[in-house]
Amino acid sequence: MVSLLENPLRVGLQQQGMAEPQIIVIFGASGDLTWRKLVPALYKLRQERRIPPETTIVGVARREWSHEYFREQMRKGMEEAHDGVGPEELWKDFSNGLFYCPGNIDDPESYQKLNDLLSELDEKRNTRGNRLFYLSVAPKFFPEAIKQLGSKGMLEDADKHRLVIEKPFGRDLASAKNLNQVVQKYCKEEQVYRIDHYLGKETVQNLLVFRFANAIFEPLWNRNFVDHVQITVAETVGVEDRAGYYESSGALRDMLQNHLMQLYCLTAMEAPNAMDADSIRTEKVKILKATRLADIGDLAYSAVRGQYSAGWMKGEHVPGYHEEPGVAESSTTPTFVATKFVVDNWRWKGVPFYLRTGKRMPKKVSEISIHFREVPSQMFTSAAQQQSANVLTMRIQPNEGISLRFDVKVPGGDFRTRAVDMDFTYGSFGLQAKSDAYDRLFLDCMMGDQTLFTRGDEVEAAWQVVTPILSAWDAPADPATVPRYEAGTWEPVEAELLINRDGRRWRRL
Ligand code: BG6
Repeated sequence: MVSLLENPLRVGLQQQGMAEPQIIVIFGASGDLTWRKLVPALYKLRQERRIPPETTIVGVARREWSHEYFREQMRKGMEEAHDGVGPEELWKDFSNGLFYCPGNIDDPESYQKLNDLLSELDEKRNTRGNRLFYLSVAPKFFPEAIKQLGSKGMLEDADKHRLVIEKPFGRDLASAKNLNQVVQKYCKEEQVYRIDHYLGKETVQNLLVFRFANAIFEPLWNRNFVDHVQITVAETVGVEDRAGYYESSGALRDMLQNHLMQLYCLTAMEAPNAMDADSIRTEKVKILKATRLADIGDLAYSAVRGQYSAGWMKGEHVPGYHEEPGVAESSTTPTFVATKFVVDNWRWKGVPFYLRTGKRMPKKVSEISIHFREVPSQMFTSAAQQQSANVLTMRIQPNEGISLRFDVKVPGGDFRTRAVDMDFTYGSFGLQAKSDAYDRLFLDCMMGDQTLFTRGDEVEAAWQVVTPILSAWDAPADPATVPRYEAGTWEPVEAELLINRDGRRWRRL
């Protein structure tokens, strides 16, 4: 396979043509992600003829399933989570390429068996030794799986063997470094695809176009015009049956360190030299290295955590975090986090970036808002009204789009002003993002384009920024000291203070 990095054109993000025949090996194939997202994404790519008929999928997990049973499970998934399989002929052809290989992550024999099956399938299905290993297992198994694959020579060929890892990449800086060391021992960086599914979202990619394909914003995109930036990712879901994972993760590790930091990087970074993987990722690393918490001396000025308590969502009573199954009584795991970052560079010196994310918020909404400075003199101000500052909003989901808030004169005899929004929504142009992030990302890995994947040093730089918060919050504490917010409401009071004390307010969404 030709790696994009060897491509003299060095242009990423341009999906054209068809991927080469290859075998996709999914570790953790009996888990939800496989039938809900991964196999449906590959099927969609097949329907769209972006991947060839030779494409072969091998599921690996502990359960003793047969090939046939695996196929049935995947079909059930298409029926439950999607609109069924569509034309029978196509599904039949696709599912003939689904295979299953029972195995244990730490058992060398399982890898031998897998390797034998892969060679056999290469012959049968003409997949030419091209392999993409997708680790959809609990993160604690990543190093072992990579070591086993590596020591069997299954990652040896940098052109033909690719490795896909799902977040979280480590649980702090030290474990991220360890994971990177294992990865580097067995792979070259250009073989590794670290997935952050936010980068697969159409509107997240649009940030690059918006910033770097439009000349009018660049002159405003700096400390001379921007007062502050807010990034919000709010979810309505609670932790539900995911406490097993969530208890050791929490909002900071699960969302902020990765998804929100990606949004942050794309908003704050400098223009890359070219739209290729390395140039973009290099700029992201640079901005992360210039980023720090607003006040390292007193964490309360830079970061606030929270846990949801019982409340009402859409007329339904929902339990608090501590009442969710599997959550320890003593748990201090945050379900909400807000941070204030500052950037030590010329563009952003003095401009705070406020980030917040939480579960059980009143609305599912993700957006970035750029708050411009106020006019130097409030000429139209009366006691009853004040002009608002301009706000540029990029909505990631739902109603993907961009809007600009500005003041207009209210028709009439006097000079009353009102803020209005000039709105662009993707939907209104029939440009609604049709794909789930996974098919976009799968195709990129299969085509060898790393632009939308996180580089090893980027992961470490992002952990570095949040390390002071982790050190404070990982220490045992009385759960009563963790601020609460009622399910179905916005942030805890402490998080309002974080921004109010700067004379600013969170946007009400
Ligand atoms: C995942 C987190 O990475 O992202 C989940 O583990 C979270 O806790 C999900 O719910 C949110 O993704 P999206 O695409 O629904 O915003």
